[in-house]
Amino acid sequence: MKLKLAVLPGDGIGPEIMEQGLAVAKAICEKFGHELSYEYAICGADAIDKVGDPFPEDTFNLCLNSDAVLFASVGDPKFDNNPNAKVRPEQGLLAMRKKLGLFANIRPVTTFDCLVHKSPLKDELVRGADFICIRELTGGMYFGEKYEADDKAYDTNFYTRPEIERILKVGFEYAMKRNKHLTVVDKANVLASSRLWRKIAQEMAPQYPEVTTDYMYVDNAAMRMIQEPRFFDVMVTENTFGDILTDEGSCITGSMGLLPSASTGEHTPVFEPIHGSWPQAKGLNIANPLAQILSVAMLFEYFDLKAEGSLIREAVNASLDQNVRTPEIQVEGGAKYGTKEVGAWIVDYIKNK
Ligand code: IPM
Ligand code: MN
Repeated sequence: MKLKLAVLPGDGIGPEIMEQGLAVAKAICEKFGHELSYEYAICGADAIDKVGDPFPEDTFNLCLNSDAVLFASVGDPKFDNNPNAKVRPEQGLLAMRKKLGLFANIRPVTTFDCLVHKSPLKDELVRGADFICIRELTGGMYFGEKYEADDKAYDTNFYTRPEIERILKVGFEYAMKRNKHLTVVDKANVLASSRLWRKIAQEMAPQYPEVTTDYMYVDNAAMRMIQEPRFFDVMVTENTFGDILTDEGSCITGSMGLLPSASTGEHTPVFEPIHGSWPQAKGLNIANPLAQILSVAMLFEYFDLKAEGSLIREAVNASLDQNVRTPEIQVEGGAKYGTKEVGAWIVDYIKNK
C-alpha cells in the first residue's frame, strides 16, 4: 500500500529515537513492497523557538493530509520551572490531540520476560502481566473550563454522553478482541463525571454479553495494578486517571523506554512512545529507541498490516534476547549499544529475514 507519514520528532531525545523508528518503517516498507513517503514537521519547544507556536498550522495541515503521524516527544526544562511561560511545549501535544480528534489513547502495558528483573515489583507478580489501558484523550480536566488567578484556580472535569459512549465502545471492542475482561476505572463514589461514566458503561455492558465488565475506583485500581497486574485485560478510563495510571503501568514492566502507544479518533492517527523527551539524554546516544520502534509496529497494525507489525516485534524481541540493549536495560558486563546501534541492529534483522 501507499503510506504517507507526517514525522514529528519534537524535542530532547525525540529526533534520535525518531531516526531509528523511521529507519525501521523504511526497512519494513521495502521488505513488504509498500510505497512509503514522509515529511517532517516541527512541534513542541522546537516549534516555539522557531515560530512561537508548539503546534503550528503547517504542522497541523501536514498531519491532516497524511495517513498517520509518527510522533516522538516534546518538552524542555526551560519551560518547566517557569509558571509564567505563556506557551509550553506540552500545549502542542494537547493541541494536536484536540485538533485531530484523537479521543482514544491505546497504551499497552506489556512485560518482557527478560526484563522482569528490572521491575520494582516481584518477579512472580509481574511476569506475564499484559493489559491495555484505554485512556480518553480529548476531554476531562485537560480541556474543561479553567480559571487561574493568584488566590484561586480550578479545572473542570467535564464530559458529555457522546464522549463517554465513544471511548467505552473502544474499550468494549478491545475487550472482545482480547480476553473479554473490561475494567471501567472511575471515582464514582465522589465525582459526578464518574457517575455518568459508570451509568453509561452499565447501560452499554449488556450489548457485550461475552465481556466480563467490572467497575473499579481509581484509587483501588492504582493499588491493584501493583498488587496483581495480571488481573487486568483491558482498562478504560478518563483522561487524567489514564495519564496517571499509565505512568504507573509503564514502570511495572521494567522500562518506560519500551512502551508505545496509539492515539486514534476522528482524523489522522498518531503513534508515539509513552515516555517524554528526556532532555538530559539529548545527543548522548543512550535513549532506548524501542518504544518508538514499537510505535511503528502499532502503526502498521492499525492498517491491518499484521505481518509487518509482527516482524518488528520479532526483531525487537530478538534484540533484547541477544542483549543488544541500551544502557538502562543492559545486563551487567554486556556489550555497549547506543540508540543508533540498537536501531541499526533491528533494521539489519528485518532486512535479513
Ligand atoms: C502523556 C504526557 C502528557 C499528558 C503531557 C506531556 C501533556 O504526560 O502523554 O501522558 O499529560 O497527557
Ligand atoms: Mn503522562
